[in-house]
Amino acid sequence: MNEFEDIINNPSGRKTLTEIENPRRRHWLIAAAVSSLFMHHEVRAASKSPFQFESVPYSRANDEIQLPPGYQWSVLAAWGDPINGQTPRMKVDVSDGVTEQNQQFGMHHDGGSYFPSIQRPNEEGLWVVNHEYTDDGLLHPGGMNQWSEAKVNKSKAAHGVSICAIQKQTNQQWAVINDPRSRRITANTPCIVAGPAAGHPLMKTQADPSGKWILGTLNNCAHGKTPWGTYLTCEENFNGYFTKQNPPTKEETRVGLNKKGFGYRWEEFDSRFNSDLHPNEINRFGWVVEIDPQNPKSHPIKRTALGRFKHEGAWVTVAKNGQVVIYMGDDQRNEYIYKYVSKGKYQAQAGLSNSELLNQGTLYVARFDADGKGRWIALEHNRNGLTSENGFPDQAYILIHTRLAADQVGATPMDRPEWIAVNPKNQDVYVTLTNNSERGKSITPSASNPRANNLMGHIVRWQETRQDAASTTFTWNIYALAGDRQSENADWRGNIMGDQLGSPDGLWFDPRGILWTQTDISTSTLGKGAYLNMPNNAMYASDPQTREFRRFLIGPKGCEITGVDLTPDLRTMFVNIQHPGESPSERANPDSPKAVSSWPDHDSFSRPRSATIAIWRQDGKVIGS
Ligand code: FEO
Ligand code: CA
Ligand code: CA
Repeated sequence: MNEFEDIINNPSGRKTLTEIENPRRRHWLIAAAVSSLFMHHEVRAASKSPFQFESVPYSRANDEIQLPPGYQWSVLAAWGDPINGQTPRMKVDVSDGVTEQNQQFGMHHDGGSYFPSIQRPNEEGLWVVNHEYTDDGLLHPGGMNQWSEAKVNKSKAAHGVSICAIQKQTNQQWAVINDPRSRRITANTPCIVAGPAAGHPLMKTQADPSGKWILGTLNNCAHGKTPWGTYLTCEENFNGYFTKQNPPTKEETRVGLNKKGFGYRWEEFDSRFNSDLHPNEINRFGWVVEIDPQNPKSHPIKRTALGRFKHEGAWVTVAKNGQVVIYMGDDQRNEYIYKYVSKGKYQAQAGLSNSELLNQGTLYVARFDADGKGRWIALEHNRNGLTSENGFPDQAYILIHTRLAADQVGATPMDRPEWIAVNPKNQDVYVTLTNNSERGKSITPSASNPRANNLMGHIVRWQETRQDAASTTFTWNIYALAGDRQSENADWRGNIMGDQLGSPDGLWFDPRGILWTQTDISTSTLGKGAYLNMPNNAMYASDPQTREFRRFLIGPKGCEITGVDLTPDLRTMFVNIQHPGESPSERANPDSPKAVSSWPDHDSFSRPRSATIAIWRQDGKVIGS
């Protein structure tokens, strides 16, 4: 969701060690990054590329999925399809109500994970997928006209997470099948609160005096998967669902609470989204939520030890000594990158009880220094200036108001941290910084965010000291400055080798060490200026050795590409196509959807639908190589 997530809420404007005041030095740094990159390329030029497919030719006219020759795809699960593969699909006039939507896939798929079955891992498993937000202009007949409680309830039901069972069919296509584990988790599903902030006075409301039960999860952007088989869903732009007419507090301002929110209008029929009446309700969103997909009776659990901010995703790895490490980005301009390190150690035989590791540990925030080194700074009460005298009364306050704590310790403001991926070959960590056109206006460019008007975004990578994920120091460099080498503007060119790309968002290493990058170029900028010659949003394979990017998939008009997983045999890939047909004016005019696409149904359906697709090769071989 591009149009609303990038307003700046970080007023600190602090000058950190990472900042480079001298623009000449900044250009030198970019030049150095580019030249070391090309040298690297020459050295490695002889090595064989890990991927062997033909780049998909540039296109913006085609309203369809485009793949290299020899690849096929089909829709697996679109908004409005039944999660058990049986109950009716949404009516073409979208007149279904909340009851039906509670049994159907929600809107706007983002992160997702495949959980293979033990017996037939490559043919059967669970697909778990987030539904980030709703376009209410498309969700209801008549859009947001005659706004009602029924429409609010349907909007809540179209949020959250879908868990479904899927199976490979004899024709290679995949289908959603009936399974007792199929369920929807929505903005109304009871969730448990766990960790240091559970039961804290700031978490208590009239409806929940315990501060330990929350109704629902929302704005579920990306995700994570734990080694013990649970799914993490992350609450990103939670502030947009709340409104407050009285002047906001400093804590509320820091997460962007304001009079109007993003226009969901839930507060008109559910007062808990009215922050004048229920000031603590907003504290109960903005968390990482753990879900056990195998147990349909289990409650989602909000893990407060991982901090509260606009969580893009939560990517899990295990350190050398067994501590669980979770990398997380806060996606807004000039926000931070975090990691959580558990106190205890992962034990495979302990199964689900490993979840307790998410309740006790240390939350760190990243500082990227100009010399290519970096530091993880602990956000712990009475450390690093996080004291009562400085306005941090206890650990729960630090976790609830994580951004304020990160400001205090001098973390490095980044150009909108999106997905994070760990290279399985060497544990290097990569992060997409999708773009930040405001950097130069609001904050000084830094070594790790070198462009003052960063329209195209970039990818930073770091290596933890001793390649140990639990380490508190690291070294970093810029993996790629996104751009279009044909562009006349140097800032828009970047240093991408291979196919042009901009606004990198989704990022994932497959088990072979291929880095998959997905883009989320705003519909309002595509085809103009820096994005003049960019295709529709797309997915690229990249080789960490040569840094080449090669286009594997182009999506339909108005979509973003986000969310990817593979079956263990690497023969089926699952990818999410979000908000096909989004038009620049759609959210501004929610009463009259003006979809520019009718993907995937084309003439048979009244409006475009987000969907998970399955991709395979006609010859049955592995994807990509
Ligand atoms: Fe939901 Fe930052 O993308
Ligand atoms: Ca996005
Ligand atoms: Ca994203």
